Amino acid sequence: MPKVTSKMPVAKRAKKESIRILIPRARIQKRITEMARQIRKNFANEPLHLVGVLKGSVFFLTDLARQIPGEVSMDFIAVSSYGADTQSSGEVKLTRDLDSSIEGKTVIVVEDILDTGMTLQYLLRVFEQRKPKRLRVAVLLDKPERRIAAVRADYVGFTIPNEFVVGYGLDYAERYRNLRDVAVLTLGPSNKND
Ligand code: IMP
Ligand code: MG
Repeated sequence: MPKVTSKMPVAKRAKKESIRILIPRARIQKRITEMARQIRKNFANEPLHLVGVLKGSVFFLTDLARQIPGEVSMDFIAVSSYGADTQSSGEVKLTRDLDSSIEGKTVIVVEDILDTGMTLQYLLRVFEQRKPKRLRVAVLLDKPERRIAAVRADYVGFTIPNEFVVGYGLDYAERYRNLRDVAVLTLGPSNKND
């Protein structure tokens, strides 16, 4: 194995990326346990149907689901997202629908982050037409400063400032989802030596 030294060239990227941990993994897990307890308390003895928005919500959903006692089922939906940039186009498109009907079910939409609110506004409209018994929203992160659509979440893990974050499911151009912490991503100027 070659020895890694600081003089070695870094992988070529258009801009130099750096990350700073914002929410460490232990705090995330602790908060999810609290959220799960609260959710079960609010819907005691009721089967809960978690609907995760792919792909950002996967780790949050799987951790949350395992902390909720009693009957829990899950399904996934996918919508178009940011692509390779940190700015949303504002356009939402359904790219993968649910496997099963949500009619008459107590549905909790599980999303990684509530940013402008455009995604959730769109999804809630779609889901409401399908006549669930109840429709609630759980998000790991909330960036209220960026809100455009009048949407609010019933369960919020952490309220964060207006910064672009990655990790614990959240990506930048499909990377960083596997980070176990939530971190702020900073894009610096291009690295001259790249
Ligand atoms: P909204 O429609 O603007 O609320 O954005 C929702 C989606 O945008 C989320 O599900 C994320 O996929 C993505 N997003 C928003 N803010 C961030 C961020 O800070 N980091 C990574 N993805 C983000
Ligand atoms: Mg995304």
